[in-house]
Amino acid sequence: MGSNNKIFGAYISGTGSFVPDKILTNADLSKMVDTSDEWITTRTGIKERRIANENETTAYLSIEACRNAMEMAGLGPEEIGAVIIGTITPEMVFPSTGCFVQQALGLKNAFAFDLQAACSGFLYSLSVAEAFVKMGKYNNILVLGAETLSTIVDYNERTSCILFGDGAGAAVVSRTDDTSKGVLYTNCGADGGGWESLYCKAYGSRYPVSRPLEDESDKFMKLQGREVYQLAVRTIVDEFNLCLKSHDLDKSQIKMIIPHQMNARIIESSSKRLGLSEDQVYINIAKYGNTSAASIPIALDECVRQGILTKGDYSILIAFGAGLTWASALIKF
Ligand SMILES: CC(C)(COP(=O)(O)OP(=O)(O)OC[C@H]1O[C@@H](n2cnc3c(N)ncnc32)[C@H](O)[C@@H]1OP(=O)(O)O)[C@@H](O)C(=O)NCCC(=O)NCCS
Repeated sequence: MGSNNKIFGAYISGTGSFVPDKILTNADLSKMVDTSDEWITTRTGIKERRIANENETTAYLSIEACRNAMEMAGLGPEEIGAVIIGTITPEMVFPSTGCFVQQALGLKNAFAFDLQAACSGFLYSLSVAEAFVKMGKYNNILVLGAETLSTIVDYNERTSCILFGDGAGAAVVSRTDDTSKGVLYTNCGADGGGWESLYCKAYGSRYPVSRPLEDESDKFMKLQGREVYQLAVRTIVDEFNLCLKSHDLDKSQIKMIIPHQMNARIIESSSKRLGLSEDQVYINIAKYGNTSAASIPIALDECVRQGILTKGDYSILIAFGAGLTWASALIKF
């Protein structure tokens, strides 16, 4: 709590994103594995994805995204109180990606850490920042989703290698006395019982780098696409309804829902179940594929910069991913 036990508002004062220049198209992938542009497009909606070069590490992508977000917010480095980076592809095992970003941007008053919740990483981080800002402890927190998934994708495995791409998105969460706007509601959930749907085994304490892997492909991420597909649809529907209910809103009042970009068909089938119109649902997966934690903040930045989300608009953000984890947020701009 602040000194007077006052609860503040927490609003998004700036957004930013950054993706590598290199594009990997469906045509490129069809030369690497037995697949086709037609299969990938009809099953996923993805046309191309960005791939980082060896200098474009997760911290590098994060730094660029943060610069854009801080510029929009009009904030200098000393005004940032914390940086939280949702990622499953950190700069190193340790120290955190956040520390590299803190140093590079000269955030001398900020503490920094990474938060690992796979595709839900950005919304989990947003929820943490929301609590810190609303209790009055910090004025401005940088929240990110940043990934170099190409470093853990098996480019011999056709079901997963077509899905993923690299990128970073950032948002500044800032304190305000106006509690009627900003991050109005967040919800986060987990079910570790579903971990085998989507994972990367190496190299943690169970499969340490010091012991040879029985199966070399365990260096890469693995997924049970079908299982994840069905759960994702159900979660998007449930989380959307929770967000509406939290503030007694009707779906017609939501300007834009920004779901995690995992598969256009998953997004379309959940929006159909919710009875949303096409122009209420943001889909940019054709350009970037699934960038895990980065997908929602990249899409959010596009919505803000294109003027799709402006003052007074309600937006609902929903993520689902490995863990299993899920999360949602209701934001009023
Ligand atoms: C992965 C995904 C695109 C697969 O689509 P699908 O419609 O479920 O397809 P299936 O896995 O049932 O496979 C159907 C067939 O296509 C084949 N196939 C798989 N990948 C292929 C590819 N890239 N190109 C061509 N054929 C492919 C399969 O081998 C299978 O062939 P079979 O019927 O002869 O056995 C889809 O399940 C999905 O998007 N799941 C969620 C993604 C996810 O987990 N994201 C991460 C969490 S956020």
